[in-house]
Amino acid sequence: MNTAKVLRKAVIPAAGLGTRFLPATKAMPKEMLPVVDKPAIQYVVEEAVKVGLTDILMVTGRSKRALEDHFDRVPSLESTLEAKGDTKKLAAIQEATNLGDIHYVRQGDPKGLGHAVLRARQHVGDEPFAVLLGDDLIDPRDELLSTMIEVQAKTGGSVIALIEVEPSQISAYGCADISEIDGENYVRVNKLVEKPDAGEAPSNLAVIGRYVLHPAVFDVLEETEPGRGDEIQLTDALQTLAAGDGEGYGVYGVVFRGRRYDTGDKLSYLKAVMTLAVDSEDLGADLRAWLPGFVGSLKD
Ligand code: UTP
Repeated sequence: MNTAKVLRKAVIPAAGLGTRFLPATKAMPKEMLPVVDKPAIQYVVEEAVKVGLTDILMVTGRSKRALEDHFDRVPSLESTLEAKGDTKKLAAIQEATNLGDIHYVRQGDPKGLGHAVLRARQHVGDEPFAVLLGDDLIDPRDELLSTMIEVQAKTGGSVIALIEVEPSQISAYGCADISEIDGENYVRVNKLVEKPDAGEAPSNLAVIGRYVLHPAVFDVLEETEPGRGDEIQLTDALQTLAAGDGEGYGVYGVVFRGRRYDTGDKLSYLKAVMTLAVDSEDLGADLRAWLPGFVGSLKD
């Protein structure tokens, strides 16, 4: 009998300051920025729920109340829409409230992604769990997380998601030194280097915001000293897990070849909106009709 527990917990860190998107994020979390007609965070929660992660813990902080409000019911709005007979909009607002069991914990001081993940320790307990960064969007038409969950179950370690980037871009990311594993759809991660200079990067494989972690990461995070930016870095804890051995050690990577957008970065955010909008049911046709003329006007 397979006694392995089904992975069902997801942690969504959304307590960062969002300085790259100021002033829009002065009083509003960047995770609430609309991507076509839904806040970015809703895509992330939907991605988790789609692969069966129905127990969600969101790590929030100052100015983040809008996040909790978004996933809560608004009875007065529901009855207004009901009275008007606007069933489409009613369904749209109810979609966000019916997504799963969402819990919240506050980070207090945003002392880094590793610190945010550590805030989930009590809720997660002693089982593997997924981490989805609240500002990192995987195109809903592409698949990543279910493969990562399978790889975690198979290896018993922790799993990170990697994308290939132009060598000149690698200095903006965490970078993985990897070894291929014969016949497998995942790689072994030997070492992680945070934001290396292009000439010193061990590969062009960049770490993106999806992780499936063994709970051994919590003990390591407790011992991890603040690193770059005086923050407790998740990458540093993963580096310890990659370098050591023992129960829950070992880090593996799944290389993602689909579409991914960093909605905390202005340009990448705009690309996400356009890419999803041209295929949206209600806006796609009109936007596609307008775009060629607009692009043509740029050449003049
Ligand atoms: P970022 O590296 O994008 O940092 O965090 P940031 O502070 O949010 O944004 P900028 O760079 O100032 O614009 C990646 C993810 O980790 C979360 C963020 O909310 C985001 O989802 N995070 C980061 C936390 O939850 N807590 C932290 O202390 C730092």
